[in-house]
Amino acid sequence: MERKKVKELLSDPVVGKEVLVKGWVRTRRGNKNISFISLNDGSTINNIQVVADMARFDELRLRDITTGACIAVTGELVESQGQGQSVEINASAIEVYGKCDADTYPLQKKGHSMEFLREHAHLRFRTNTFGAVFRIRHAMAFAIHKYFNDKGFFYLHTPIITGSDAEGAGEMFQVTTLEPGNPPRNEEGAIDYTQDFFGKQTNLTVSGQLEGELGALALGEIYTFGPTFRAENSNTPRHLAEFWMIEPEMAFYDLKDNMDLAEDFLKYLIRYALDNCSDDLKFLNSMIDKGLLERLNFVVSNEFVRLTYTEAVDILTSAEKKWEFPVGWGRDLQAEHERYLVEEHFKRPVILIDYPREIKAFYMKQNDDGKTVKAMDVLFPGIGEIIGGSQREEDYERLIGRIRELGLPEKDLWWYLETRKFGTAPHSGFGLGFERMILFMTGMSNIRDVIPFPRTPRNAEF
Ligand code: 4AD
Ligand code: MG
Repeated sequence: MERKKVKELLSDPVVGKEVLVKGWVRTRRGNKNISFISLNDGSTINNIQVVADMARFDELRLRDITTGACIAVTGELVESQGQGQSVEINASAIEVYGKCDADTYPLQKKGHSMEFLREHAHLRFRTNTFGAVFRIRHAMAFAIHKYFNDKGFFYLHTPIITGSDAEGAGEMFQVTTLEPGNPPRNEEGAIDYTQDFFGKQTNLTVSGQLEGELGALALGEIYTFGPTFRAENSNTPRHLAEFWMIEPEMAFYDLKDNMDLAEDFLKYLIRYALDNCSDDLKFLNSMIDKGLLERLNFVVSNEFVRLTYTEAVDILTSAEKKWEFPVGWGRDLQAEHERYLVEEHFKRPVILIDYPREIKAFYMKQNDDGKTVKAMDVLFPGIGEIIGGSQREEDYERLIGRIRELGLPEKDLWWYLETRKFGTAPHSGFGLGFERMILFMTGMSNIRDVIPFPRTPRNAEF
């Protein structure tokens, strides 16, 4: 018989039909006459109830059906007698695939802490919360591809191993096959990377943007969606050392077009989740964050506020607040400042533009004031920065001037610079941190809980 998924059985039940389901036991209760097994197969947050009449089953076999065990159930789908479900399965046969020892199974009890579940990341998928989070994560990945495909953007696969530092911030993981204890050395005594695997020093990418720009300056509109890596020692609930980023890059977009796209894109993703993940969102709204659905609905139905960095600094300096980090023109904004603007001052998402050039990356287009660049950060409630982007400097002289001012390795960027020599064009793009988006979508509070296996300082288990 063909296996049916629980999601299918519950959404389109054919009462009276013989069905086969397979999944993991969530709970089992009952008495000596009858047993009720709550079964989940991951296809939905909802369980299907299996009823086992003890007259038909050997007591000894049912003993193995404990929380966490994996079973296959054959039986008739019938209207449920009890409360809480419309249909249930009247079991005629149960096969146990995998027993689950009640004394040693770590997820026996409800209400484990998030820390405990992180230490059991290999099993946490089996909880309602993580099932919901990872189904939503999947739906968002799918929606991202759909959004851009429908708009005629091309998915560009930018390299994971690179020889350049896209952000110029030096927060890179090196990739090498040289022997750590005994690397070859050149005449000056420095490590001789010409003997390394690629014949040069390489690292894991911090961003696919620079290669994305090359694509946009030929294909028009592209996006990347891949893993990125940052060796920044930030132990916060918003930072990972390995995270996924979506980076659209568009020829002929100015900063305003870039902001319009970012706002439309974010709202599309939220709407997609509201339309397609309602069971999981309802669960998270009731168990994790009571304000979740209200916040999601609020963000899709309100315009984002747009203002300059300078205006934001004015607001922050006149706010009656004790800041942990000082505020002042020229200083970078910290999470506390971003969240004040979004959560307390405007009470809605904010797009900040025109940041001081000194605190932004080399590739951003310089404004005529000589002080600021056409940067944009999108700030979200509960998150802070969710998107960073800009219009790009398309002028060769200005771009190389900035690279030299900052002392960046010009020779590693020859290919990037050539696009400004050969048919340069105004263009813009941004990067959405995928996990920060999932944090917002799920109401989870720690970024380690929205990626299956988080990589953070001093942690690479699993
Ligand atoms: O602001 P960032 O550093 O911008 C870039 O990398 C540009 N190259 C993007 C572009 O213009 N194409 O990073 C973009 C976003 C941030 O807004 C944040 O959401 C996320 O990536 N992000 C992180 N997410 C998790 N952990 C980290 N360590 C992150 N660093 C950035
Ligand atoms: Mg940023």
